[in-house]
Amino acid sequence: MNIRTKFLLWFNSANFLVIILFSLVTYLGAIHSMEEGIDNRLHSVAEATSYIMERPPQGGAPLACGTREFEDILAAFLGYSGSEGFVRIVDTEGRMISCTSSPLFPDIKLNPKEMATLKINKHFYKDYGNPQGLKDKKIRVLFFPITYQSKFSGYVEVGGSLAKLESMKSSLLKLFTVIIPLILLVSNIGGILIFNKGLRPIMFLSSELKNITANELYKRLPLPSSKDEIRELFESINEMIARLEKSFEQVRQFSGDASHELRTPLTIMKGEVEVAMRSERTVEEYQDILVSVLEEIERMTRIIEDLLLIAKSDSKEMIIEKRNINLKDILCELCEQLCMFAENKDVTLNCSDMDDLMIMADPLRVRQVFVNIIENAIKYNVQGGSVNVSLHELEKGIVVEVRDTGIGIRKEDSGKIFDRFYRADKSRKREIGGAGLGLSICKWIIEGHGGHIVVDSQFGKGSIFKIWLPKS
Ligand SMILES: Nc1ncnc2c1ncn2[C@@H]1O[C@H](COP(=O)(O)OP(=O)(O)OP(=O)(O)O)[C@@H](O)[C@H]1O
Ligand SMILES: [Mg+2]
Repeated sequence: MNIRTKFLLWFNSANFLVIILFSLVTYLGAIHSMEEGIDNRLHSVAEATSYIMERPPQGGAPLACGTREFEDILAAFLGYSGSEGFVRIVDTEGRMISCTSSPLFPDIKLNPKEMATLKINKHFYKDYGNPQGLKDKKIRVLFFPITYQSKFSGYVEVGGSLAKLESMKSSLLKLFTVIIPLILLVSNIGGILIFNKGLRPIMFLSSELKNITANELYKRLPLPSSKDEIRELFESINEMIARLEKSFEQVRQFSGDASHELRTPLTIMKGEVEVAMRSERTVEEYQDILVSVLEEIERMTRIIEDLLLIAKSDSKEMIIEKRNINLKDILCELCEQLCMFAENKDVTLNCSDMDDLMIMADPLRVRQVFVNIIENAIKYNVQGGSVNVSLHELEKGIVVEVRDTGIGIRKEDSGKIFDRFYRADKSRKREIGGAGLGLSICKWIIEGHGGHIVVDSQFGKGSIFKIWLPKS
């Protein structure tokens, strides 16, 4: 079932329900108020008649049935004409004492239960269909007790025609049978028009989106002129396409960089093996070639490990297992391990300014971060330079500062060094730099611990890397 049919089905069902409810309430309300009017009229006539009967004129004879006199009295005092109904006065035995000469004269017989009701001074209404001589007509009769000197002495029967009520009922029903389908028809046509108008931008959106393939993510949807929710939807989709374009570009860049990084050691290995095979070599020469091949294999292994780590972090598979660790101990141990590396580079590594601090962190990952940052500070240093590592607890949190007197980072590069495969100096020697993955992994790990890294560098003078971690 398409959305248009679904919408119309719901719309029409809701409309139908509302119209039916409305008609029902109107119908019942109109009938109720008309019935109330009839009942009140019968009641006031009965009440006035019984009042007269309870106080007969001194020495006066009862009014005879069907006499003009009786009808005149009713008409004069009560404004009740005999043609609209009838009034009868009945004694306790059920014998009629007086009555009007109305044609609406049903054959009324009260059962003992109804008689008992009157005797306890309670009135009641009864409807009669097809009274004598009047086919298809209905009348309502009110039975009202008369008490004379606190004794039940008969009752008044006041009958009124229900013809007007019946004709109003049938008129209302006729009206509803015409008006309900008409309203439904008009609302259905209106619903189709409104729905078509509302759906047009969605149809347009769907056809436009079909034209934007993965290779055409530079395209944007034309915005509708109206400033409404539809425009907001178009804007949100455009923003989403822009985000997709950016991440597609990043993926493309990433796979290009990754394959380039892996191809370089392979090309080197291939070249070295080919050279070795070209002629007979001495054992030392073969050993040199094997050492070089081994270096390239180690390099490739590291890149692949880093790529795996990045893939895991992207797919949220990498788990950070935090526990209480002594950060000073970890940093001191690292400094000891990197001491030789620094010495070979003629760089002084100083790790003495450290507070004894415990933090909640993953020791393996934290070690990985500081190895890369201290290693970078040594790698990108100058001969005779120095690296200072300090650890302090400040109000904002725990900060590890790695300060070097190295080559520094240009302003335009400092924002990019945390990007994957980014190297500030693209032409540097292979043995100095890595693949440019280290800092992006560091950033991910530190942020995963609720911290952040900031870099402050002066090109040609040195850099300060500050790693902030939350207090445990
Ligand atoms: N202390 C530093 N001084 C100067 N430049 C730096 C320093 N640390 C990082 N950089 C620059 O930032 C770039 C990115 O560093 P990152 O650690 O991500 O990669 P890498 O060291 O080149 O390779 P990898 O860490 O993957 O082996 C480096 O190539 C370098 O140009
Ligand atoms: Mg590095």
